[in-house]
Amino acid sequence: MRKGLLISFEGLDKVGKSTQVDRLMEHLTEHRKLNPILVREPGSTEVGEKIRDILADPALKGKISPLCEFMLYSASRAQLVTEVISPKLSAGELVIADRYYDSSSAYQGFGRGISLEFINKVNATVTLDLVPDLSILLTVENFVSESRKKPDRFAPNLFDDRLEQEFMDFRKKVQQGFLEIAQKEPARFLVLDANEKREQLAKKIAARVDKLIKEKS
Ligand code: TYD
Repeated sequence: MRKGLLISFEGLDKVGKSTQVDRLMEHLTEHRKLNPILVREPGSTEVGEKIRDILADPALKGKISPLCEFMLYSASRAQLVTEVISPKLSAGELVIADRYYDSSSAYQGFGRGISLEFINKVNATVTLDLVPDLSILLTVENFVSESRKKPDRFAPNLFDDRLEQEFMDFRKKVQQGFLEIAQKEPARFLVLDANEKREQLAKKIAARVDKLIKEKS
């Protein structure tokens, strides 16, 4: 039976998600004296880290089909939920997830065009229906220049205009997908503008998480 709390972080790459994950972990451990468990997707289990290596392998760039990609993310998630998230929640622990199933809906569904109905079914199955108590979505208006600044090893090489354009279109679809998902479940989501100052964002996230912990205890 579920007793703990599950909080996920979502958003496009390179929007400062990892910084905010670290800041929340710091807040919970140092200020609240709690012992949260941090997991990241893909990965965080022995099998999941191997799947992550496949997804980030430069030799496979452009060779993994959208469906295969979705299955790999889902396989990593299935292992993570069974091995870590579900048992930790049952034990009453607080779990922080750097990405969870909304990433598959946004990237593989809205971004790559895989049927959302299918994705929703697989998501529900691999997560054992474990929905986050809170999902923090970092959004960006200016995602084009952001991605130009810091190329991503999961993304195509930006040496060619057509590829770059395709990549920007993809990011736009993913970003819109995340917003659509959040609009459908406003009670679950805290949507924040990633361009706000780091300190401000960290404060807002900590306040919302503190409130959630209070409500559930
Ligand atoms: P992540 O490690 O969070 O990268 P970053 O810190 O740069 O945001 O995510 C790795 C990549 O995997 C990222 O491009 C998003 C992608 N991804 C999906 O496409 N689908 C998924 O289900 C997940 C979990 C991640």
